[in-house]
Amino acid sequence: MVEALRRMEYRGYDSSGVAVLDGSGASRVEKKEGKLANLEAALDSAGHDSFPGTTGIGHTRWATHGRPSDRNAHPHVSGDVAIVHNGIIENFAPLRAELEAAGVELVSDTDSEVAAHLLMCEMASGPHAGDFVASCRAVLNRLEGAFTLVFSHAAHPGTLVAARRSTPLVLGVGKGEMFLGSDVAAFIEHTREAVELGQDNVVVLRADGYEITDLAGEPTEGRPFHIDWDLAAAEKGGYDYFMLKEIAEQPAAVADTLLGHFQDGRIVLDEQRISDQDLRDIDKVFIVACGSAYHSGMVAKYAIEHWTRLPCEVEIASEFRYRDPVLDRSTLVVAISQSGETADTLEAVRHAKSQKARVLAVCNTNGSQIPREADAVLYTHAGPEIGVASTKAYLAQITANYLVGLALAQARGTKYPDEVAAEFRQLEKMPEAIQKVVDSLDPVREIARELADSKSVLFLGRHVGYPTALEGALKLKELAYMHAEGFPAGELKHGPIALIEDGLPVFIVMPPVEGRGVLHSKLVSNIQEIRARGARTIVIAEEGDEVVRPLSDYFIPIPASTTLLQPLLATIPYQAFAAEVAAARGYDVDKPRNLAKSVTVE
Ligand code: AGP
Repeated sequence: MVEALRRMEYRGYDSSGVAVLDGSGASRVEKKEGKLANLEAALDSAGHDSFPGTTGIGHTRWATHGRPSDRNAHPHVSGDVAIVHNGIIENFAPLRAELEAAGVELVSDTDSEVAAHLLMCEMASGPHAGDFVASCRAVLNRLEGAFTLVFSHAAHPGTLVAARRSTPLVLGVGKGEMFLGSDVAAFIEHTREAVELGQDNVVVLRADGYEITDLAGEPTEGRPFHIDWDLAAAEKGGYDYFMLKEIAEQPAAVADTLLGHFQDGRIVLDEQRISDQDLRDIDKVFIVACGSAYHSGMVAKYAIEHWTRLPCEVEIASEFRYRDPVLDRSTLVVAISQSGETADTLEAVRHAKSQKARVLAVCNTNGSQIPREADAVLYTHAGPEIGVASTKAYLAQITANYLVGLALAQARGTKYPDEVAAEFRQLEKMPEAIQKVVDSLDPVREIARELADSKSVLFLGRHVGYPTALEGALKLKELAYMHAEGFPAGELKHGPIALIEDGLPVFIVMPPVEGRGVLHSKLVSNIQEIRARGARTIVIAEEGDEVVRPLSDYFIPIPASTTLLQPLLATIPYQAFAAEVAAARGYDVDKPRNLAKSVTVE
């Protein structure tokens, strides 16, 4: 079991645990915060290796609800029940309240724990009392959100029940033994025969076989397949690099970041230690971040100012405290950080706090330092991002920043509730549109191979297309070590147009056709200006934009969207382009030279 967990460590861990059953109804549970080695030490010292386990469940945690700790680690236990969970149980709050009203004591801060207690209650006094499988289905039918769950019960040692909705779970079919894993890396050393499970599938697992049903108990089929990958490939889901896998995970990263943040017609943040009255008293917003996180803040500026009518400054974190910014208790500082440990951003937070400003953190790593020191937190749910170059975390940051903007507009009344709801519904449509872009990147990779020997590439955009241009340039710099620069397209004539020479590749991202207006026509003029000087134009535009297609040496269509949400789509071709150029140049896409995933020094 521990070996299987070790194979899953790349998926992120801030704690881990196991629950093991023997044939007699006895069980052992051990779980520890921190690295897997902490769990192994606990298992050794408790003498578990002599425990004759026949059935077990294990978990490496990437915290979403409840910071890393022993009590928040999985498995979660309730009587004879032990469960492990990946994902987000969106309706955990009412379920938690129901359990507490029934006298159940919950010991963790997690959403997952409710599933254990619900099953214990079902088994004790539900309509299917004593029936392990039926009781599990009854619990599953009460859960909303995205989840993979595995249930065990000490009185049913030869059986596991599992289910998935919108998060991964795969079945391993061995000889006289069966396996479950978030991906095949968990059991690839024991069997290469696997079964893909579908949405809302429930699987009942016994050593000699399995059965799959839907949530109602109707039999259904999984998709058997043979695993051809080696272990390293399995960890990357078959992709050559984690970054490529993470580009493909962006629809889920955005969808998961939205989950649970719109309840009863209102935007809700995570740990909101700032009251709505505090938000109403805000008269200025500062966004501080580094690198891609900074670019996501630049995108947020357009939304926050438009939705709240508050002035919003975006500042590079390493510059922020040295410029002696004007801050007071009416200033909201939004600190954006995937790792939550970036020293420049952390010091900016501390400076803001020293000036009595309110600090809200947008962060992907539960329990990290920046959210600990902030007054409020909105967690992104991109999952662990292994590639040094930020992709899914970046899109999740943009998504979370929009939620912050809507929460501010909602608290200040600058948007009516139905307007907030309408904007949230627009956001909810984005994962599907993002999936379309992710599924159509082959032409972009072909362009990248064709331009891989370029000496320099420019990126142009207007409005939210400008931070998108900066992000495209950053990706190319940090992955392909190629000179790349992003500009607001309107700046061309103030100097950068002197850079244009014959054959120079220039990316341009066009605003949506529906908002065609002045931005679109200005950018068409910019394209004509640079083409007249020999530039090779690579245009990212909506699939219906027939005005700009004739002006494009390469045309990269993306689905229609609103102006503000377009960066969630237009950024993806830049990610794929940069990764492909880097691969064409023989560089390590996941570990670019000189860079670290988290810069914990100033
Ligand atoms: C993004 O591709 C880079 N790896 C880097 O700019 C990163 O965004 C920056 O260091 C900020 O990191 P953080 O989000 O963890 O604070």
